[in-house]
Amino acid sequence: MDKFLVRGGRPLKGKIEISGAKNSALPCLAATLLTAETVTLHNVPYVRDLITQRRLLEDLGATVLTPELRTHKVTANNVQIFEAPYELVKTMRASVLALGPLLARFGQAKVSLPGGCAIGTRPIDLHLKAFEALGAVVSLESGDVIARAPDGRLKGAELAFEKVTVTGTENVMMAASLAEGTTIIRNAAMEPEVVDLADLLNKMGARIRGAGTDTIEIDGVETLGAAEHTIIPDRIETGTFIVAAAITNGELEIKNCVPEHLSPVIEKLREAGVEIEEINPSTLLVKRSAGGLKAKDVTTEPHPNFPTDMQAQYMALMTQADGTSVVTETIFENRFMHVGEMQRMGADIHVAGNTATVKGPAKLTGAKVIASDLRASASLVLTALAAEGETLIDRVYHIDRGYETIVRKLRSVGADIERLSDSAVEAEAA
Ligand code: UD1
Repeated sequence: MDKFLVRGGRPLKGKIEISGAKNSALPCLAATLLTAETVTLHNVPYVRDLITQRRLLEDLGATVLTPELRTHKVTANNVQIFEAPYELVKTMRASVLALGPLLARFGQAKVSLPGGCAIGTRPIDLHLKAFEALGAVVSLESGDVIARAPDGRLKGAELAFEKVTVTGTENVMMAASLAEGTTIIRNAAMEPEVVDLADLLNKMGARIRGAGTDTIEIDGVETLGAAEHTIIPDRIETGTFIVAAAITNGELEIKNCVPEHLSPVIEKLREAGVEIEEINPSTLLVKRSAGGLKAKDVTTEPHPNFPTDMQAQYMALMTQADGTSVVTETIFENRFMHVGEMQRMGADIHVAGNTATVKGPAKLTGAKVIASDLRASASLVLTALAAEGETLIDRVYHIDRGYETIVRKLRSVGADIERLSDSAVEAEAA
């Protein structure tokens, strides 16, 4: 298993280009199953989860061409299989996004239940209830969800999610696009990725209004067609690099981002003493403010509030801020796996239930740590960049799921980070 070796204490300086949003590219690739015509997606990030999603499409029978590394041309005119198998779903939960399109276009779908993951139980009951509202018959057999549209086509309906769910909203939006009649989704997720998916679907001929608000209306159409779409920049990658500039006391120009997609993050980081200047609509200039980093509490909540996907990185920053901050996680029940690892590096963090109290600034020193999930991995890289000495981060395959060429990007702005493959680690030990 690959590891990262980080020698911390160097301020990062230079320019970083943000890649396409993983969490937008995943549903957009799933949406290509809704039509027999070719859908072309640009700015698809080259990360493990997207390689997995592409494999799923190919396993189902779609043709995926990549004339360029980040351009996918998908033609799903020969889909013979309507199933996302356990082997794929267990490595990537987002494969459940195939359920809505398959059910809507072919009237049937089988998807393995994802089960638990490192950050919590993460059920898909809300997706399934919503499909039932659209007339699907859903059953569970041997760990697989089997959904059918009894008359071959789903029926539009009015439904309200009990809890805001991002992929749930996306799954239903895709399914409802081909349903008969109008669907109204209340308490819908308002994340920028939901809006990006709606933009793609509308280009394919869907009739979706209200994406980005908590009520989405979809007039179902009989068929969808070809479209070309560019995936939005990754707001979580952007936020991670903002923290990288601040935690190392460096200065980064972050290019090709959409600042308004991460306004709750930018607002909180400014309060915490990070100077973030919008030098043009897609470029940020980031450094610590003269007054230094200040402890500020944060609570994760659905968009437009502070995202859970930035919680671990924010906590890394708070270990270096002056004072005590309380980080409250309300979305996932087990998303403090990074805390124990940060403590090994000298962070002063106390966890009680879903809150973590961070006292800073702590003197961080390099250590051997283990990455437990995607965003936790990013937070450990950030902590390591701020620590004195060497940090060896194990299980970095998690970070490869969602951060494109993170080692290359960090090295290009002066970080001392390298990837060690197992053989290299063994060679060092010998
Ligand atoms: C998406 C993101 C993930 C992010 C999360 C929250 C993708 C591919 N992933 O995940 O990076 O951390 O949003 O912003 O876009 N829930 C249920 N039943 C359901 C569905 C969800 O109880 O059927 C719960 C979850 O366990 C969680 C909360 O609802 O507590 C929100 O989860 P949800 O928004 O669905 O997360 P994902 O869409 O899986």
